[in-house]
Amino acid sequence: MKILLLTHAFNSLTQRLHIELKKRGHAVSVEFDVNDAVTQQAVDQSTPDLILAPFLKRAIAESIWSKYLCLIVHPGIKGDRGPSALDWAILNGEKEWGVTVLQAIEEMDAGDIWASVNFPMRETTKASLYRNEVTEAALKGVLLAVDSMREEQFKPEPLDYNQVDVRGKLQPLMRQTDRRIDWQQDNTETVLRKIRSADGFPGVQDMLYGKELSLFDAHKAEGLRGEPGAILGYCGVAICRATVDGAVWIGHLKDKQGAHPFKLPATQVLGKQLATLTEITDGYSDIRYEEQEGVGYLHFRFYNGAMSTTQCNRLREAYIEARKRDTRVIVLMGGPDFWSNGIHLNTIEAAESPADESWANINAINDLAREIITTESHVTVSALQGNAGAGGVFLARAADHVWARSGVVLNPHYKDMGNLFGSEYWTYLLPKRVGEERAHRITQARLPMGTVEANELGLLDAYFAIDNVAFVEQLKQRAKLLAEDPALAEKLEQKCSTRQADEQEKPLAEYRREELERMNLNFYGFDPSYHVARYNFVYKVPKSRTPVTIAHHRDIRRRNSEDWSEVS
Ligand code: COA
Repeated sequence: MKILLLTHAFNSLTQRLHIELKKRGHAVSVEFDVNDAVTQQAVDQSTPDLILAPFLKRAIAESIWSKYLCLIVHPGIKGDRGPSALDWAILNGEKEWGVTVLQAIEEMDAGDIWASVNFPMRETTKASLYRNEVTEAALKGVLLAVDSMREEQFKPEPLDYNQVDVRGKLQPLMRQTDRRIDWQQDNTETVLRKIRSADGFPGVQDMLYGKELSLFDAHKAEGLRGEPGAILGYCGVAICRATVDGAVWIGHLKDKQGAHPFKLPATQVLGKQLATLTEITDGYSDIRYEEQEGVGYLHFRFYNGAMSTTQCNRLREAYIEARKRDTRVIVLMGGPDFWSNGIHLNTIEAAESPADESWANINAINDLAREIITTESHVTVSALQGNAGAGGVFLARAADHVWARSGVVLNPHYKDMGNLFGSEYWTYLLPKRVGEERAHRITQARLPMGTVEANELGLLDAYFAIDNVAFVEQLKQRAKLLAEDPALAEKLEQKCSTRQADEQEKPLAEYRREELERMNLNFYGFDPSYHVARYNFVYKVPKSRTPVTIAHHRDIRRRNSEDWSEVS
């Protein structure tokens, strides 16, 4: 089947559908919904069997839905309608939510229902629900709908509020007033729910030191109390604010009116105010170490998987400490939503010299990667609970084993960031695992990759379990087996001699020098592409066209073929 993914952006959900539909033999092409004329042109060029809209911010034009079957992925239960579906579900404390695949018609979200899949809600941010439960349910719903297209008997269900299983309703766009925090009234649970309903976007607006700031990345502050609304202090990147029955940590802030109007670590946004605050030691940490049965687990829950210079340095120190322990295996856990997305583009953008900060950041992540690659005392594992992108994928590959949760999406390429060459010793790590030819193909293709393909290519060593809880359980069993392996000492010896042989052939320092030579040009050279791409990424400048790497219908080599495959 020819499927056109019509979407506002190639976000994680769209990428997952792209991977899974292609895996099932469908021809899939992508078009960003830039404006009516461009979308119409894409539809005329592609003449798809199905237009699937996983992430749209506006309605599909009648000229399109009246001619083509258009299915919308709506992140709400049957009957739910409106642009703030997940926001309301979180704010209202729903216990169960869902995704509905419905046909586009004149009225938004009111078309016939092709599939609806529910899931239990989890106490987390909107973005985390979206990347996990919503993505899994959307995939199930889309596959059901695609199967139904082949069934002649199938009739989609008209939206009928008299049906018992139609529990949703039309809900308005959520406004700041709907989730504004009343620090004198709201308890911790309510504050968390309000912030989470707006995290990643748009954030809850709040007054702090006379400034209107948006709050993100909130967590319960165990054991801390104070005057409701008072800032109790800071720890690491986060500040602590008291509620009526406890306190919350707030890790990230956005100052829309400030010089850097994008998300940054809270302590950085507060600037000089920080000096007036007390440091709460051992309060909040985005790095955590635990040990179980001969295995050290290093968790690094960095917001959005972005790793700044200081975060890389802190993680390297924590890693070196973990290596001193009397354990046999170290598992690098990343965070529950992302493993890593490489260097921190927001802190770089906010730096006085973004080029210097890029340089510092890439060197810091390289220092961390080198420690992992040269570890002789332990077997190392990268455990991907969540997605990884760019340098984050290669950092993961620095470990001896890379295990991923099924369904994780990898973006093992840098070029989308203004033709960035990339470092993290990828020129050593990638060809070693997948071979020169595949390494070249992977980095040039600029495509997201699913766990099945990544495993076939050797980028992953194993993938298992769909949900996070089951993944962590199974990975602990596997790590324990590694630690108990009677042949462990032998395997470590083997690993050390392979490393020594590799070092003889070409020293790690030489790979790094070559990579950084190219990165130096990216950061300091005449071509500003990286700086422009980073600015556009951080400021979320909407894309003005879809790259042909994913818009096959716009690729002249593919356009005339029935299934958008390349024709010579
Ligand atoms: N630095 C700072 N922020 C980052 C980031 C990075 N390296 N990577 C992702 N983010 C942020 C995004 O800005 C977004 O922020 P939001 O919460 O305000 O929406 C959030 O993380 C989620 O990213 P998004 O792009 O929406 O997620 P996705 O799952 O759709 O896409 C990637 C994943 C990895 C393809 C995409 O985030 C990306 O290209 N990141 C940049 C990777 C990179 O080039 N790193 C530098 C080179 S090592």
